[in-house]
Amino acid sequence: MGLFLMKECKLSPRLQMVADMVEAGSVLVDVGTDHAYLPANLILNSTIEKAFAVDVRKGPLENAGKTAREYGIKDKITLVLSDGLKNVDEGVYNIVLAGMGGTLIVNILSAVSWIKQKGTRLILQPQSHTYDVRKFLDENGFEIVRENASFDDGHCYISLLAEFTGDSKKQSDEYYYIGELCNTKNDASVNFIKKEYNHLNRRYNGLLLKNEDSQQLESIKNALEYIKNKLD
Ligand SMILES: C[S@@+](CC[C@H](N)C(=O)[O-])C[C@H]1O[C@@H](n2cnc3c(N)ncnc32)[C@H](O)[C@@H]1O
Repeated sequence: MGLFLMKECKLSPRLQMVADMVEAGSVLVDVGTDHAYLPANLILNSTIEKAFAVDVRKGPLENAGKTAREYGIKDKITLVLSDGLKNVDEGVYNIVLAGMGGTLIVNILSAVSWIKQKGTRLILQPQSHTYDVRKFLDENGFEIVRENASFDDGHCYISLLAEFTGDSKKQSDEYYYIGELCNTKNDASVNFIKKEYNHLNRRYNGLLLKNEDSQQLESIKNALEYIKNKLD
């Protein structure tokens, strides 16, 4: 019998961090899939058996189809043309939204209510507005289980894993700035938290100079103290 070697679909450190949060044996929905590298990698290394590769534009979906054909896994990846999850059949999935702004992620998740069911896992890689993403998750019954950070091509990225519980932990405002990232002690997470701290500090000094909005000043001051304590 001839030896059959499956080609590897290698991921960037950013996407590998996301892949590491996907549950083995789950059905993956990769929203904003573009080339479908993430589903291809997870199918090829047998973490999952099948996936839905979703994109709002035809071009990226064609790229996804090309990847599936190239790796011989066409029957395992279903291509879905959809704005977010709107055309995805209801189900219990591991849902990935990576490489997008946090505002878009929140908009996509807000648009369908069926994701609010036991077993739904969200794996998110917001490239901005991480505060809003965490607040949305907490207020909508998703518990942030863990976060991670990694360096990739000179940038620092984070990823979050959240599971639907139906309960809100009613976390503090300060928590939403760094979430569970403070429990991930690696160089990238510390770098990300320090950047968040410096950004908030600049906002604080700006407000102080203008001598306005004392309530907002107080809230940012509390957040700065919270973050500083977590970094010490
Ligand atoms: C920067 S790429 C990210 C690709 C891949 N997820 C990654 O992290 O490398 C963003 C992709 O999201 C898609 N996208 C943007 N808005 C979307 C929406 N509302 N629904 C589905 N896909 C969307 C874009 O067409 C694009 O292919």
